[in-house]
Amino acid sequence: MLLIIILAAVLVSFLLLLAVASRSVTIPRQIGPDEGIDDNEIVKAYDRISQWPQFRVIRRIIIHELKRHYPQGTLVDVGCGPGYLLADMARVFNDLKFIGVDISSQMVEKATGNIASKGFIERVSFRVGDIQELPFESNSLDFVVSTLSLHHWLQPSQGFEEILRVLKPSGQFLVFDLKRNSPRLAYWLVRFAQSLILPTALGRINEPTSSFLASYTPTEIEDLMQDTGFTTWRVRAGLFWSFTWGQK
Ligand SMILES: C[S@@+](CC[C@H](N)C(=O)[O-])C[C@H]1O[C@@H](n2cnc3c(N)ncnc32)[C@H](O)[C@@H]1O
Repeated sequence: MLLIIILAAVLVSFLLLLAVASRSVTIPRQIGPDEGIDDNEIVKAYDRISQWPQFRVIRRIIIHELKRHYPQGTLVDVGCGPGYLLADMARVFNDLKFIGVDISSQMVEKATGNIASKGFIERVSFRVGDIQELPFESNSLDFVVSTLSLHHWLQPSQGFEEILRVLKPSGQFLVFDLKRNSPRLAYWLVRFAQSLILPTALGRINEPTSSFLASYTPTEIEDLMQDTGFTTWRVRAGLFWSFTWGQK
């Protein structure tokens, strides 16, 4: 009898915990301190964790989504960071030409080294640039990708306007970012990782928690998109992320 009571108590506690963990977090957006990542220690730390299996899985999810849109021609990755997504895309999409753009010159330097060491430098070039003023002519690009960067943009609507400007007619974009209204469990895991596993340089700037807090809910992204010139777009929410796709 006692055993049954204990088992029932364990089961009820587990179900309660599950119910709490799966509830979405509803908190106002909190803007982080920095736009670009331009601190050498942070660049090194971000470069290191980008090679961890968890990040590889995220890049697989992104490439899987990208394949659904049949990218062709020239693809630009804005906020490319250390360039691992560019390397993975270059491996998968053999016919594409790639350009990485980042507001941080240190990130661009790191990405250039990474791409060279992986043997893709012939097909991948880099520019230092800001999403708000992309270093490209109007109607010149086939595809724009941006991952884990949207929450850093000072004026996101202007960022999307810039994407619209540089895309060729029928050109597409795909933006991937964290989702602030993720299940509580995502925040617990991130806080746990931040204090025990991730490099201390990231913990000092409260990352990745502050990126989660600065990210948008899918509804907020839909509101943003209404303010842009794009007429064809959609936002798709995942477990703790969202994909925004659009076409010119
Ligand atoms: C969290 S990292 C993501 C890097 C990479 N895309 C990834 O998925 O791992 C965000 C990157 O966006 C860049 N960034 C932030 N604001 C930007 C802006 N306004 N224009 C271009 N890049 C920006 C940062 O410098 C940083 O390298």
